[in-house]
Amino acid sequence: MSDVHIVVLAAGKGTRMKSRLPKVLHPIAGLPLLDWVLRAAEALQPASTTIVVGHEAERVRAHLAERPDVALAVQEPQLGTGHALLQAEPHLAGRHGTVVLLSGDVPRIGARTLRALVDTHVQAGAAATVATAVVDRPYGYGRIVRSEGRIVRIVEQRDASPGEQEIREINSGVYAFELAPLFDALRGIASENAQGEYYLPDLVGIYRRQRRVVETHIIEDASEMRGINSRSELAEVSAIVRQQKNEELMAAGVTLIDPATTYVDADVVVGADTVIHPGVTLEGSTTVGAACEIHSGTRIANSRIADHVTVLNHCVITGATIGAQASIGPFAHVRPATEIGEGARVGNFVELKKTTLGAGSKANHLSYLGDATIGPKVNVGAGTITCNYDGTRKHQTVIDEGAFIGSDSTLVAPVRIGAGAYVAAGSSITDDVPAGALGIARARQQNKDGWAQARRDEAHGSESNARSGAGPGDGPKEP
Ligand code: UD1
Ligand code: MG
Repeated sequence: MSDVHIVVLAAGKGTRMKSRLPKVLHPIAGLPLLDWVLRAAEALQPASTTIVVGHEAERVRAHLAERPDVALAVQEPQLGTGHALLQAEPHLAGRHGTVVLLSGDVPRIGARTLRALVDTHVQAGAAATVATAVVDRPYGYGRIVRSEGRIVRIVEQRDASPGEQEIREINSGVYAFELAPLFDALRGIASENAQGEYYLPDLVGIYRRQRRVVETHIIEDASEMRGINSRSELAEVSAIVRQQKNEELMAAGVTLIDPATTYVDADVVVGADTVIHPGVTLEGSTTVGAACEIHSGTRIANSRIADHVTVLNHCVITGATIGAQASIGPFAHVRPATEIGEGARVGNFVELKKTTLGAGSKANHLSYLGDATIGPKVNVGAGTITCNYDGTRKHQTVIDEGAFIGSDSTLVAPVRIGAGAYVAAGSSITDDVPAGALGIARARQQNKDGWAQARRDEAHGSESNARSGAGPGDGPKEP
C-alpha cells in the first residue's frame, strides 16, 4: 500500500452557485464534481481517503453511501480551507507519508498531474508542494507570489494589491503536504484577511518562516485546474469536458454531424460507424452499439442499444434495452425496464413501460404498452392500449407469438392473448383469448336504412309545429 493519503475539501457552501444542492454534487457530463475528483485520486492508490463535509453534509454522505473506502470528516462551522483540512486530523493520526489535498470543486484535475505532483514533492523533500498554473484570466484565484524564483506566499484575489493582481500564476487548490509537520502548522494560521477565514494557502508563508522547503508544480494543461464557483464556470467546464468526450468518440470512429450540439456523458460508450445527428443527448451508463443512427432531438439515458439500431427524431429512451436492427420513433417514449427485441419496430407516439416487445414485433402507431410481455412477430395495431392500472395495482398483459391486435383495442389486464390469436379492432378485451381464436368485444353494428332522411323530415315538421305552438319533437322515428 502507498503512503499517499487523499483529503478532499467539500464542506463549503458554494455561495456563488446560489443552489440548495451542495456544490460538489453538481454534475459535469453526468458525474458530480466530487466523483471526478475521487476518480482522479484513485490513480494514486491512496492508503486512505477523507472527505471534509459540512454544508448539506447529509446529502454528500448519502451520495457516498456506497463508498466504504471513503471516510468523512465534518467541518462545522465552515471557517475556511485551512480550518477544513484541520478537521481531517483525527483520520490521519498515527499515519505518515504524503497528504494530497484536492478541492471538491476542481473536477478536471488529471491522474497524471497528481502523480507528477507527488513525484515533484517527494524529490524536492518539500513540506508543501503547490500545484500552480499560468492562465490568461487569473481573476478569482489565489496568486503565487515569488521572490528570486521561489514561492514566498499565496495571496487571495480579495487581499491582493493591484500589482499582485497582475500575477498570472495561480493556486490550483491542489497540494501535496508532508504529513508530519502539517497539523501543527495549520493551527498557526490566522484569519486576518478580507473574508475573516482560515486560509490554507497561508501555510506557504508559515513554512517559509519555519525554513521548510515549499515547492511548486506547474500544471501544463491549465484547463485541468479550472475551479467551479458559479453556474457560469460550471457551464464553461462542462463545455470543455463535452468537447473532449466528443473528440474521443470521433477518434474511435463515431460520426457526429454537429459536435457542438452533441451531449454525451462521461461514461457513455458508442460503437464505430454510428452516426449521431445534432441535438442528441446520451446520458449516464448508456451504451450504443456499432453502425447505429440516432436522429436529432433524441435523449437516451442509462440504456443499452445494440448494433444497427435506428432511433428516429425526438425519442426519449430511459433505462431500456434495444435489440439489434430495431427501429424506434419518431416521437417514441421507451421507459425503464423495457426490452425491445431484435428487428422490432416502435413507431410514432408509442409509449412502453416495463414491457418486453419480442423480436420482429411491431407497435407502429399511437399505443401505450405497460407491464406487458409481448412475444415475437406480434402486430400491435394503431391505438392499442394496455389497461395495466386498476386505480390501486398494476397488472400484466401477455401477448403470445404471432398474435394480431386490431387497432384501437383496449386490453384490460390481467389478460392473455394466445399465440396466433386475433383481437378485432375496437375491442375491449377483459377475458383471455385462446391461441388461434378471434376475440371480439364490441357492440355489433346496425345500419338503419333511410334514417337520415327521416331525421330531416322530422326536423322540418317540428319547425312548423313551433310556429303553430306545438312542443319540440323527440328526433327521428325509426323507419
Ligand atoms: C481556493 C483557494 C485559492 C485557489 C482556488 C482554486 C483558499 C483560501 N483559496 O479559493 O487560492 O486559487 O481555491 O480553485 O483556499 N471548503 C471547505 N470548507 C471551508 C471553505 C471551503 O471545505 O470552510 C472547500 C469548498 O467546498 C471547496 C474548496 O474548499 O471545495 C475551495 O473553497 P472555495 O470557497 O471554492 O475557495 P476559492 O475561493 O475557490
Ligand atoms: Mg473554489
